[in-house]
Amino acid sequence: MPQSAQAAAAQRFELVFDQASDAICTIVGGRIEACNRALEELTGYLRQEIDGDEVMVLAPRPGSTRIPVRARAFTREMLKTPGTYEDVAVLRKDGYTRMVDLVVRVVSGKTDADAFTMLIFRDVTAKKQMERELITKHAELRNAFVELERNNAELKAMQETLVQAGKMAALGELAAGIAHELNQPLQAIRGYAQELGLEVAPFISAAPQKADIDSHLKQIVTGVDKMSSIIKYLRTFTRKSTEGYDWVDIHGVVTEAMQMLGRQLESRGVEVVKFFSEGLPQVFANPVQLEQVFINLATNARDSIESTGRGSGRIEIHTRQSGKFVEVVFKDDGVGMDERTKSKAFNPFFTTKEVGSGMGLGLSLSYGILNKLHGSILVESELGRGAEFLVRIPVDYRELG
Ligand SMILES: Nc1ncnc2c1ncn2[C@@H]1O[C@H](COP(=O)(O)OP(=O)(O)OP(=O)(O)O)[C@@H](O)[C@H]1O
Ligand SMILES: [Mg+2]
Repeated sequence: MPQSAQAAAAQRFELVFDQASDAICTIVGGRIEACNRALEELTGYLRQEIDGDEVMVLAPRPGSTRIPVRARAFTREMLKTPGTYEDVAVLRKDGYTRMVDLVVRVVSGKTDADAFTMLIFRDVTAKKQMERELITKHAELRNAFVELERNNAELKAMQETLVQAGKMAALGELAAGIAHELNQPLQAIRGYAQELGLEVAPFISAAPQKADIDSHLKQIVTGVDKMSSIIKYLRTFTRKSTEGYDWVDIHGVVTEAMQMLGRQLESRGVEVVKFFSEGLPQVFANPVQLEQVFINLATNARDSIESTGRGSGRIEIHTRQSGKFVEVVFKDDGVGMDERTKSKAFNPFFTTKEVGSGMGLGLSLSYGILNKLHGSILVESELGRGAEFLVRIPVDYRELG
């Protein structure tokens, strides 16, 4: 290559060194020999200031320089071991640090005297800062997401309760209407069946079908009576009036209900344990209806315990005050409910019991009674783990509007 071309190539090479986007310097005998423009920008020194300086001028001062988290300080040891060092803190002229990825190269010359060290710094301060911000933003997003999910679940639960309450209200009205319409024709059927019995008696006293006819007529009357009892049952909670309302001691009501079932529970080995809170306020309600609620709950618990086949079980009744409500927790160690049963348990006429043994009205009625009082009844249960009902009764429902 002619000399002029060589000179041009050397000039170009110098330009490449100077314009490189990474900060580069050469070190000879521990001092900076030459550096490029990017190094000026990185360190804040001018070339003429730093050329010939100890390279350790770039090392953070232990104790006085603040080093970013997860970064390590630039040290003399790094110069001795060629390689790549990530997240290294170098000190600027103004006392601040920058984060760099550092490459240390030892370039050997023809003689030892020709050998030099080359340092290449890539500024990653902004990248790291962005990474940190990303991590923070990510965590914030995750929290927001969790919050959203929780709100969503709450909303869904609320919606379900609303749908359920709406269904119950509609069913209640329907039931009241049906009850009213059915009652009269039923009483007529009952009356006619009884009269028919009396009317045909003289003619069939000697007939071979007498027994059959008597039994059929009796079955009509029994059937009608059963239907009437359902109707009466339904009317208990669809009736709007507040007759029979008074200030009631919940402990008294619960105790009376348990006494009514006393023998039934005892004979099945069911132990009732009461955990009554002292100083509970009285509630304004109809004691007969409230008693009905606890009888229903205890009857269900008794049946559920009996279904375990163990021959014994336990009902726990806890009472407490919660703001303007008195709460009664009714817990049994019976067979419990699967999801489907739990979701339908309060529906009228839903029963898992044998035909003839349950009408599926107990819980729906209890729900109705409490709903009218602006109270509530909730169930927690898992198959094989018993059931827990929470009954909430307002101290004075008239205050809740
Ligand atoms: N404590 C309980 N443990 C397990 N399952 C229960 C419990 N209470 C209620 N259930 C379930 O909920 C259903 C509905 O109960 P509900 O009291 O409304 O009707 P029922 O007991 O079947 O009939 P009825 O009360 O009219 O005699 C029950 O058939 C049963 O499957
Ligand atoms: Mg029942």
